Amino acid sequence: MPELRHLVSIDDLSLPEIRALFEHARQFAEDPRAWSHLCPGLISASLFYEPSTRTRLSFESAMLRLGGGVLTAADMKSTSASKGESLADTVRVVGGAYADVIVLRHASEGAARLAAQYSPIPVVNAGDGAHEHPTQTLCDLYNLWLERGRIDGIHVVLAGDLRYSRTIHSFVYALARFGANIVCTPQPGFELPGYVMQRLREEFGVEPVRADASRLGELAESCDAMYLTPQKPHQLSLFTEGSKGLAIERVDALYMTRPQTERFTDSDKPITKYQQLGLRQMNAASLKDAVVMHPLPRRDEIQPELDADPRSIYFKQAARGVPIRMAILAFLLGRIDLKVEPKPADGRFQSMAVGPNPCQNPTCISRTETRHVRPLFRLASRFPIRAYCGFCSHELAAPFIGCTTTGHFHERDSTAARKIRPDHIVLLRSEAEALEAGFVPAAGAAATP
Ligand code: NCD
Repeated sequence: MPELRHLVSIDDLSLPEIRALFEHARQFAEDPRAWSHLCPGLISASLFYEPSTRTRLSFESAMLRLGGGVLTAADMKSTSASKGESLADTVRVVGGAYADVIVLRHASEGAARLAAQYSPIPVVNAGDGAHEHPTQTLCDLYNLWLERGRIDGIHVVLAGDLRYSRTIHSFVYALARFGANIVCTPQPGFELPGYVMQRLREEFGVEPVRADASRLGELAESCDAMYLTPQKPHQLSLFTEGSKGLAIERVDALYMTRPQTERFTDSDKPITKYQQLGLRQMNAASLKDAVVMHPLPRRDEIQPELDADPRSIYFKQAARGVPIRMAILAFLLGRIDLKVEPKPADGRFQSMAVGPNPCQNPTCISRTETRHVRPLFRLASRFPIRAYCGFCSHELAAPFIGCTTTGHFHERDSTAARKIRPDHIVLLRSEAEALEAGFVPAAGAAATP
């Protein structure tokens, strides 16, 4: 039996592993019909709680091309989910004897992380709410690698709804790790969420810099363009800096996204005019050689007149989803050996044994699933203690910290809190919550009555 690996976040793979997957995908693409000896007798189960065309069908096509079989629950309303079955129970059942790998799409952020905690077989995140979509990112990176020959140092413009597009979130983490330069030209009001920016800064050393997008033309007219670059400050001198910021001279890829209207809330800015790409916009000087990408489905943000333009690769991009997903499945099922260093397990994840859920994100799986969810966090820093939700990655506000060994609680920034071992930490949102959870104030730090 191969070691159990899941693909929940794009961060679950090391860069050498990602490159090795590209090599396999390229080989598979040469003749996709020649690989049915790799996974005979193995079954993938598609559990799709949200609509899908490309992701599900390309995964199923990939499994069939590898000689395996597929089970499909494309409409989860027709399954026991509508009888109130929990996700944890569903994956335990499907992973029990029905299938060898689960491909899961769910509306709640962190659903794949939860599924991976319970599933005895590999879980692939095929999109969890507005959070991540790592296999689309592998497909997108594979496209860049084929089209541009490399990913480090290239310039990628991200446009449209960067706030709710899960494809964008996984993509920016990976681009930053590969050392690509990212230019954000979002639909105003739909910029990258704070938790994504925070992570880019803290974990990938990315600093946002104002960008002079005048050579990007109409696309960047109504928004504040921003440069996210992993370049070290001394390398930034290689770019021309004017009063408006770092100039964008030449773009390698322009990645457009649709408005994710199904995730909008009442607090979102109403959209009167969404960004559009057509031949006129693509006339901008810096876009002369840029490939145009889109995870699809598109609405009106890419005009059909662009389809015949040689720079448009979005249909090719979707087709390449099959060989890259063949590589992902064959790898997780132990049928190909990537022969490179795997990503070491992320030791910063901690499950909270007691205490209420500190996550306030209403679309996090820890809030939408009522059973089998134990709060999970990932430590961003120990001094002072700062943490993200281990499911949805949103930052957790926890001004008080409980210790499971002493039963005491402390103020977050206190010396005592610093000394608590990560696996003994309980994140608490208020003193009242701490008392209710059975913690007592540490000596000399009486709780306010
Ligand atoms: C994307 C998704 O589902 O997040 N589609 C896809 O998987 N190719 C993008 C989208 O729906 O806009």
